[in-house]
Amino acid sequence: MKNLYVLGNWKSNKTLEEAKAWIEQFVSRASELPKEVTVIVCPAFHHIPLFDGITFPAHLGSQNISAYAPGAYTGEVAAAMLEHVVEYVMIGHSERRKYQGETDEIVAQKASLVIAAGMKPVVCVSDVDQVRALHARIANFSEKGMLLYEPLSAIGTGQADSPEKANNMAHDITNIIGSAPILYGGSVVAANVGGFTSQEYIAGVGVGGASLDPEKFIQVIVGATARASVK
Ligand code: PGA
Repeated sequence: MKNLYVLGNWKSNKTLEEAKAWIEQFVSRASELPKEVTVIVCPAFHHIPLFDGITFPAHLGSQNISAYAPGAYTGEVAAAMLEHVVEYVMIGHSERRKYQGETDEIVAQKASLVIAAGMKPVVCVSDVDQVRALHARIANFSEKGMLLYEPLSAIGTGQADSPEKANNMAHDITNIIGSAPILYGGSVVAANVGGFTSQEYIAGVGVGGASLDPEKFIQVIVGATARASVK
């Protein structure tokens, strides 16, 4: 059976109190989480200490990282600062490419720093050119990280891609990058997740909106194991 990933991306949401309530509810339901799913939660940086000292039934990731080593870069969090704090680091989400002007160059630079710090980069891509650009800069990326494929038309719109189209794209991506796990993201909810996770080249999903509510997120995680039964 292939590894199965569900990554929740809270984006720019949640006060500390809201995050605490989410964590409490999620932890109280830990026994319902299927063992075969690797769950990754990516909150904002200031939430991360809330996960200290608790038995959290998932892995932690950050949504971003500095493109520079530690030093005089006001407002940035460098990869070396997050070592042993999170295991995964999202890089180059389409919202960052659009609003923060992140280029393929910057994305690759960030991915290199994350790999050097011993964490796993989750590089977000929305077309094969971005995959080629990553592969050209980090030839062995496949051994070190994973990709989250998110078509722009599907993010936050309620218009998920069709599982078959997403699988074709994941296949194309695999042909370029190699064996790295390819996740699909864009309007994933409990009702459609099994359609994506049952596809041959899709190793899991990235979840934005539906990860903000612990109940909905747990339903997505459970639904991910339904695989071919949900189409
Ligand atoms: P969405 O976001 O699930 O709200 O569509 C996905 C993402 O951007 O990761």
